[in-house]
Amino acid sequence: MDVPVHDVLIVGGGGAGLRAAIAAAEAHDRLSVGVISKVYPMRSHTVSAEGGTAAVMREDDNFDSHAYDTIKGSDFLADQDVVEAFVREARDEVIQLEHWGCPWNRDPDGRMSVRAFGGMSVKRTLFAADKTGFHLLHALFQTSLKYQRITRYDEWFVTSLLVEDGKICGVTALNLRAGGLHAIPAKAVIICTGGAGRIFPFTTNAAIKTGDGMSLAYRVGCPLKDLEFVQYHPTGLPGTGILMTEASRGEGGYLLNNKGDRYLKDYLPTRMELGPRDMVSRAFVHEERAGRVFSGPYGTYVHLDLRHLGEKVIDEKLPFVRELTKNYVGIDPVYAPIPVRPVAHYMMGGVHTDIEGKTPVQGLYAAGEAACVSMNGANRLGSNSLSEILVFGARAGRTAARYALEQEAPSNAALERLAREEEKRLQAQYFQSTGQERMADIRRDLHKAMEEGAGIFRTEEGLEKTCAQFPALRERYNRLRLEDRSQVFNTELIAALELGFMLDVAEALVTCALLRQESRGSHARSDFEARDDPRFLKHSLAYRAEGGRPRVEYLPVTITRWQPEERKY
Ligand code: FUM
Repeated sequence: MDVPVHDVLIVGGGGAGLRAAIAAAEAHDRLSVGVISKVYPMRSHTVSAEGGTAAVMREDDNFDSHAYDTIKGSDFLADQDVVEAFVREARDEVIQLEHWGCPWNRDPDGRMSVRAFGGMSVKRTLFAADKTGFHLLHALFQTSLKYQRITRYDEWFVTSLLVEDGKICGVTALNLRAGGLHAIPAKAVIICTGGAGRIFPFTTNAAIKTGDGMSLAYRVGCPLKDLEFVQYHPTGLPGTGILMTEASRGEGGYLLNNKGDRYLKDYLPTRMELGPRDMVSRAFVHEERAGRVFSGPYGTYVHLDLRHLGEKVIDEKLPFVRELTKNYVGIDPVYAPIPVRPVAHYMMGGVHTDIEGKTPVQGLYAAGEAACVSMNGANRLGSNSLSEILVFGARAGRTAARYALEQEAPSNAALERLAREEEKRLQAQYFQSTGQERMADIRRDLHKAMEEGAGIFRTEEGLEKTCAQFPALRERYNRLRLEDRSQVFNTELIAALELGFMLDVAEALVTCALLRQESRGSHARSDFEARDDPRFLKHSLAYRAEGGRPRVEYLPVTITRWQPEERKY
C-alpha cells in the first residue's frame, strides 16, 4: 500500500483527535492530515461521555469563576495560565460545535440549557440530554468529512512512533483489516488516544482505553506528567462499571446509604451530592468502613435515588440512565433506586505538553485525556473534559500545522530502516517467542496489583508492594505465548501490544504515587493525610529510564492569580 507523507498525523479518532484534525485542515489548504484510529472514530470513547460540557454561557457566570472552580477542584496543581486560556476558549468551542450541528438542549426561551455539576459554583454544564459525548462526536465526525485533505486510517493500530535525529518522522501501524505493518510518514504527530482506565479492573472506560499513546510517547523519551492522579467517579454500576452520569445528581438525584441517609451532609455539607469527585468517592469509602453501605454480588454499594425527579424529568434529561439501568441491572429509576459505587474513570495525568499541546520531543504533540496540559491538576471537575478536548485539540492541531508547514518531508531511507527494525521487534517478541505465559494471567495480576495499591486511598506499604511487582510482570510479559499467528484482525496480538502499553503506564503511575508523600486531590495517602505545598506543589514527570523503569523529576506549577489555599466545600 502506498501511503502519502502527512503533514500532520493524528493518532486517535475521538473528540480530541477529530477536533485537532479539523483545526489542522483549516490551518492551510495545502496541508495533508491523517487520522489513524484502532477503532472506527464513532466508536471512540468520547461517544460514551454523558453529562455535558462546561463553558461560561450565562450572565450569572464569568471566566474568573470557572477558572477558580477548576483550580480549586485541581487542589491547586493546575497551571493557571492554562486554565485561564481554557475558560476563555471553551465558550467559543461550544458555539462552534452548535454551528457544526451539535443539538444542545434548549430552555423554552431558546438559550442553551445549563445544568449543575460537581465542584462548579454555578450551573455551567451544557448538554445534549445525557448523551453529550455521542452528539459532540457526531458533530465533529460529520464536520471532518467536509475536508478532502483529511485521510482516515480506520482500524489501524499504531505500534511505534518513528524518530530520526531526535525528530518525529511518522509511525508504524498494523492495518487490522488487510494485515501487514506499514510506516506512515508524517512531519508532525498528535497523540489523541485517550486515557488508560483499563489498567484498573473496575472502570467506566471502554476496552480500548489502554494507554497506547501515553506509552508510545514515553518510549521515545517524552515524560508522562502527574500520572499519579486517577479520578474515581462516584457513581458506576457495580459489576460492569457503567457510568451513571453525574448529571443524575446535577438534576437533583440523591446518594443514600443503607440507613436511607443522604450521607454527604457529613462530608460536604455545602455541596452535598455536587461535591468534587475525589471527595464524594472518599465519602463512600468512609461509609463503607462504618458499615453503612449495602452488599451485593459485585461488592458494596450505595443508592442513587432519582425517584423524586419524576418520569418526565428522567425521560427528558436522563433518558440514557433509564435505558442503561433497565438493560444492565433490571431497574427502572423512576420506581427504584440505582446501586452505585466509585469506579476508576479518568486520568488527570498524561503526555507532558505545554499550553499549545507541544511535547518535549520535536514534532510530537498531544491533546485530550492522553495528554497532560495541566489544566486538571490533581482532580478534574466533571464536564471540563469535553470542553478540554475541544480547546486543546484545536490548539494542538493548529500548532502542529504551523510546525509542519516549515518542515521537509522525512527521508524514505530512514523510514524504511525504522519500519524494518519495528517489524523485527514484533516478530521476535510476539511470534517467535517460546515462552508459555498467558496474557490473561498477566493482565489479571496487573489489575490486582493496581487495585490493591493504587486505589482511592493509598499507603507507602501498598504502593511499594505494587511497585515491586513490575519487574516480574515485565519478565513474564517477555515470555508471552500467542496462539494466533494470523495477519488479519489478530485481536490476540493487539491485546498483547495493549498490555505492553498498560504495563508502562501503570508502572510510571505507581512510581509517581509512591514518591508523592502528601494527599492532594485524587491522590489520598492515608500515611500523609495533609497537602504539602512546600514539598509537593509541583508536577511529577516520569521518564522511561534504563531497563524501561521510570525515573521521576519535577516541574513547578504556574500560579497566576490564585494562591493555594485550603480546599474546603
Ligand atoms: O458523569 C459524567 O457524565 C461524566 C462526565 C465527565 O467525566 O466529565
